[in-house]
Amino acid sequence: MEVIIQPTAADAGLLAARMIAALVRSKPTAVLGLATGGSPVSLYRELIRMHLEEDLDFSQVTTFNLDEYLGLGPAHPASYFNFMWTHLFRYINVRPERVHLPDGLASDIPACCADYEAAIRNAGGIDLQLLGIGSDGHIGFNEPVSSFSSRTRIKTLTPRTRADNAPFFGPGEEIPQHVITMGIGTIMEAREVILLGFGASKADALAAAIEGPVAQLVPASILQFHPKTHVLMDEAAAQKLQRAEYYRHVFANKPPWQRV
Ligand code: F6R
Repeated sequence: MEVIIQPTAADAGLLAARMIAALVRSKPTAVLGLATGGSPVSLYRELIRMHLEEDLDFSQVTTFNLDEYLGLGPAHPASYFNFMWTHLFRYINVRPERVHLPDGLASDIPACCADYEAAIRNAGGIDLQLLGIGSDGHIGFNEPVSSFSSRTRIKTLTPRTRADNAPFFGPGEEIPQHVITMGIGTIMEAREVILLGFGASKADALAAAIEGPVAQLVPASILQFHPKTHVLMDEAAAQKLQRAEYYRHVFANKPPWQRV
């Protein structure tokens, strides 16, 4: 696990965008796993800038999002489908038929989840998975005590996660209880992972995930077993790390060939 502390969330977003752009330039048919929420927004803005100003080409890229609220259709303002088109897809040249999100209106949920897993497999697996982290340590919507070998399935959100996500909904609007999310086993099969965590509210979860024991109570801690994970955070999110100085030292002394 590579731990990268940047001065601000915007700096970390730029760096993550450069990592994704490097992959897409070296493998134009890359399969990207994408996340929603506040954490990736500045990264998506930078990818759009690179597409418009530096010819970053997404025409052969395939995407799979981590999750979707059950009961929300694509047109709902708080759906993750709408989020992705608002914040990224409408501004780049990704092909709509190569974009995948779980179907929030699926009538047969187990079949929808199995189809999602099959689509990831048929695309050749995910080259790079982008993740945020919940204040309770969740990745995707795999809440604490989710099975480490779980696959795409229905999950029930915790009251804390629903409260954290309330700002994305209108005043008084009901926040769904259920979601479809890639499983932890699905996420762990991605060949590379970038996890973003910004702000003091993520400091405890990041410290537990990076330096604590691997435990189902902290789903992100499983990434300690992933062969190629980069965790990018700002100073506020790094304040609970015991080895922060070491991570800064490692990053400052990266061999040139490892830099993006
Ligand atoms: C979003 C997702 C969630 C978020 C996490 C952090 O697709 O799967 O795990 O990444 O809840 O959300 P933000 O970035 O809003 O703090």
